[in-house]
Amino acid sequence: MEAPDSPFVKQMTTLIRENGPLTFARFMELALYDDEHGYYMTGGGPSRETSPIGGEGSDFFTAPCLSPILAKCLVRQLAEIDERLGHPPVFHLVEMGPGEGTLLRDMLQECQEQQPSLLPRLACILVERSPAFRRQQQANLAAWKEQGEKIRWVDDLEAISDASLTGTLLSNELVDAFPVHRVRMGQDGLRELYVTSRGHALQERWGEPSTPELSSFLSELDVELPVGFTTEISLEAVKWIKQVARVLDRGVVITIDYGHTARDYVAPERKNGTLMAYYRHTVSTNPYQRVGEQDLTAHVNFSSLAHTGEQVGLTTTGLTNLQHFLMSLGIDELVRGCDQESTVVQAAAQLLRPHGMGTTFKILMQHRGIVVSTLRGLRHRPFFDSVLATVH
Ligand SMILES: C[S@@+](CC[C@H](N)C(=O)[O-])C[C@H]1O[C@@H](n2cnc3c(N)ncnc32)[C@H](O)[C@@H]1O
Repeated sequence: MEAPDSPFVKQMTTLIRENGPLTFARFMELALYDDEHGYYMTGGGPSRETSPIGGEGSDFFTAPCLSPILAKCLVRQLAEIDERLGHPPVFHLVEMGPGEGTLLRDMLQECQEQQPSLLPRLACILVERSPAFRRQQQANLAAWKEQGEKIRWVDDLEAISDASLTGTLLSNELVDAFPVHRVRMGQDGLRELYVTSRGHALQERWGEPSTPELSSFLSELDVELPVGFTTEISLEAVKWIKQVARVLDRGVVITIDYGHTARDYVAPERKNGTLMAYYRHTVSTNPYQRVGEQDLTAHVNFSSLAHTGEQVGLTTTGLTNLQHFLMSLGIDELVRGCDQESTVVQAAAQLLRPHGMGTTFKILMQHRGIVVSTLRGLRHRPFFDSVLATVH
């Protein structure tokens, strides 16, 4: 597993010796969000000179760092939401987990060009727990702030009062960065993965589930995990969508991420789960290498977000994939007439790719306090409405 000479791993093994094994979720929480060594908190590790997202020396690309296409399409979606909300005097645009702040920067630019009546009513809030990323966002958005746009930062949705927001709460690749529990169905029932230590090295061990919430999560979604299957459970995502529902008075929640419905999540091709580690564009399934210097992610269970959302007042508007979302919002108009070799056409092809981002990324929309039967981004849908429904 991990070479025992990393100071971060030594710190973890000491913690395990003093307090006992960590659930995998706790290990992942530390690996990504430990104040001193966590991957996101240090901006990709202490020795990193460049950002871990996009560009040279990075670990992975995201849609916003590829091109402003997603931002342009999202502004079209925002315009429709604004209209349905009756053009409120203040339209909250909340981005959660904004990374470098590229998406919001490009959305403001697009608003200025295409939606000039919306721009002065926007009140932007960036929810970011990492000081390293917050600094990058502040630099990326400095010109807009100087121009007088209302932009503020919070560490956590906790900082926002109940039912205080009217507008849109948006995230791209936030939920896949939440810590997950890893469970496996054994002959005798559900088991949970723990991280323990041998000397200064990390080791895995299966044990009893740390909380009954893990079994409840599966039964609420009517998932019967077959014997021998491993999967991830994000209790953090459940907590998060409840917080989102708490702060939203009227508007739409747009969640963009890699992911599946509950049934597809446990399909035979995902028998070993979806946990992945990314380092310099190399993908691995070993989370114990380069702890604090590689990204760890697990695909999102969209049924869980929809199901929990319904319990706390968010109506599921619908689910689609990135390809259909961008097509519904007129991506063809954005590339019409452009040279086939141009960066905009190349980026569009990558975002739409049927065996790539176009289908692995899903978009879940949920709403409250607003009359919508559907929204423009959901016009083309590869799924039927019942796809997120559970048997209950
Ligand atoms: C994979 S990056 C995605 C960045 C950006 N949205 C993009 O698409 O390029 C995840 C982002 O979420 C932030 N993050 C993770 N957990 C968070 C939480 N609980 N609250 C707020 N931000 C969080 C990370 O610091 C990082 O900025």
